[in-house]
Amino acid sequence: MSLISKDIQKAITILTNEDLVAIPTETVYGLAGNIFSEKAVKKIFSTKKRPHFNPLIVHIASIDALKKVVSYIPEKAQLLAETFWPGSLTLVLKKNPTIPDLITAGKDTVAVRVPNHPLTLELLQQLSFPLAAPSANPFNSISPTKPEHVAQYFENEIELILDGGPCKNGIESTIIGFENDEPILYRLGAISIETIEKVIGKVHIKNNKEENPEAPGMLLKHYAPKTLTVLTSDIEKEIKKFEGKKIGILSFNSTHKSDTIFHEIILSPSGNLEAAATNLYDALHELDALQLDVIIAEKLPEIGLGVSVNDRLQRAAFIN
Ligand code: TXA
Ligand code: MG
Repeated sequence: MSLISKDIQKAITILTNEDLVAIPTETVYGLAGNIFSEKAVKKIFSTKKRPHFNPLIVHIASIDALKKVVSYIPEKAQLLAETFWPGSLTLVLKKNPTIPDLITAGKDTVAVRVPNHPLTLELLQQLSFPLAAPSANPFNSISPTKPEHVAQYFENEIELILDGGPCKNGIESTIIGFENDEPILYRLGAISIETIEKVIGKVHIKNNKEENPEAPGMLLKHYAPKTLTVLTSDIEKEIKKFEGKKIGILSFNSTHKSDTIFHEIILSPSGNLEAAATNLYDALHELDALQLDVIIAEKLPEIGLGVSVNDRLQRAAFIN
């Protein structure tokens, strides 16, 4: 007798029938489909309204499955996988010829990770194929860290949202690729630069180039609320600039007293950077639903996960 839960059973059926399921991970919810199904992968792109130049991350059940997805594993990549998987690290490596071009946007590399969520790990173990899973949000909007966020976006478009509760890390995986066997960080994420460098030494950072051909999805405007968002180190000063407007505050660890503040969310009252990252997207979803004139977001200290949160806030606040 199988002990697999009804929901996982249902997810297996849907995915085997080349359709999509929203899956929980420890970073953000993903919109998942069979990497070998053209129908499923095309539906991922169309549901998200994602441009085809932006490649997808392949999710596998364990480090053992890596050799079926990639054709070459640099020593430092192996070390990173052994250290951080299952977990919030994505490796970009030379792809195995069997990986479809639609997944990699025609590139000769593929992004791959083992997510760290019990439901999704069980699902992946039961499937005979890996899952492509971008974050389960429309292109450029705020990433989902709760099943409710996914439902708000896609309730009528996807058959099943596998409910795994709120995401523990709350910010996307850190992406590391290799150029001549040397590690390059393409996206800041849930594992800090310091934590990565403790394992493999100095890492070159290429996180910020809008037209970076190595990481085509890294746009300057991204992860963005519909509400005008400004990023500042001086909240009080910014509040004065928006006098008379309906203001929302996203503060790191302190409260701000002013009659003009409509709503304030404090990311971590104790000033914990991990907690701030965990709460970031949920806070942005909440503020964005209040029909504010402006969200004033406070810059975090530029250390550890503060660097990753600031990266997301910069993209949320970017004005073309
Ligand atoms: O935490 C995460 O990584 C989440 C969860 C669901 O696993 N997924 C996620 O996927 O953030 P997505 O599609 O929102 O972001 C994937 C990014 C792309 O924007 C692109 O920059 C990068 O991964 N990427 C994918 N394939 C790549 C490749 N071959 N070379 C360089 N960058 C790649
Ligand atoms: Mg995304």
